[in-house]
Amino acid sequence: MKKVLITGVAGFIGSHLLDFLLDETDWYISGVDNLSTGRMANIEQRLDHERFDFKEMSLFELHSLKEYDLVFHLAALPRIQPSFELVSEHIRENLMAAVHLIEIMIGEGHFPRLINSSSSAVYGTPETIPTSESERISCLSPYAFQKFETEQYLELLSTRYPLDYVNLRYFNPYGPRSFNPDNKFNAYSSVVGIFLYRAKNGQSLQVTGDGAQKRDFVHVRDLARANYLAAIHPEKLNTAFNIGHSSTMSIIELAKRISEDITFIDKREGEAEITYADVSKARKVLGWEPLSSLKSYLAESLQKNDSHA
Ligand SMILES: NC(=O)c1ccc[n+]([C@@H]2O[C@H](COP(=O)([O-])OP(=O)(O)OC[C@H]3O[C@@H](n4cnc5c(N)ncnc54)[C@H](O)[C@@H]3O)[C@@H](O)[C@H]2O)c1
Repeated sequence: MKKVLITGVAGFIGSHLLDFLLDETDWYISGVDNLSTGRMANIEQRLDHERFDFKEMSLFELHSLKEYDLVFHLAALPRIQPSFELVSEHIRENLMAAVHLIEIMIGEGHFPRLINSSSSAVYGTPETIPTSESERISCLSPYAFQKFETEQYLELLSTRYPLDYVNLRYFNPYGPRSFNPDNKFNAYSSVVGIFLYRAKNGQSLQVTGDGAQKRDFVHVRDLARANYLAAIHPEKLNTAFNIGHSSTMSIIELAKRISEDITFIDKREGEAEITYADVSKARKVLGWEPLSSLKSYLAESLQKNDSHA
């Protein structure tokens, strides 16, 4: 029976990974979260589970990973716009945090597989659509740069130490809990969640620019399954995988599917014109498939009038 650690377990994706692993495996799961952007409500229903142990703490307070077979690293400050304003804080949370975990492994000479949450932001606006992992890297924000640097440190340090890692480059995740109304950065959280929340609360949907920018939206449960498949793969992979739906929808189309009350606000720097994943590598190597569809999720959420979708 494996013993695993999830950093950022009280966040949007971390809490779904927790649900997935408790439901689908017999693993023992430790989770840490400093609740900077996550919230207890995301994991409350799991706190009594006999195979889950939660500690409210920063991962920088961790000094040993010896007991773990796997580490899922999701903790981060995952928003593009704030990363332009609070640069050093984002370097600490998005790069140094991962380096801290790597240093513990090196210090202990114990190298559990590290499944690292990376981002499609590393491609900027890609030249090739759909975009494969061999696309040129073009970081448009400090956040993207920090995600890519983390990947680079893993690659570089694995030339000297027996690191075992997988980088998962998520495209645009959506699903329950994506919008945390108490999060100071919630204006920049996943657009599907923001739009559903605003529509539910009678507020106009704010589309940046003309809304022609397109995104590849992937359901959070599909991300959780990708983490699991990366974890159980029998070989050392030490590579990156795109995790997206491999389809694309414009922001204006998304908005129109949710509400007629739409306003336009200024375009933001640092954001790509299009994201559209080529996921053939994840399909082939991990046996992963995106199983959920945004259109059915929207239809269900609107029917339920789900404010935290
Ligand atoms: N949501 C997206 O659009 C998206 C897209 C691509 C990649 N990612 C990546 O996926 C991962 C999870 O993102 P999310 O959307 O669930 O974000 P989130 O903000 O909901 O979750 C991150 C969690 O990490 C916690 N955290 C932050 N710093 C910490 C620290 N030092 N110690 C302990 N906990 C800490 C936060 O409190 C939060 O619960 C991140 O690495 C993010 O960069 C997210």
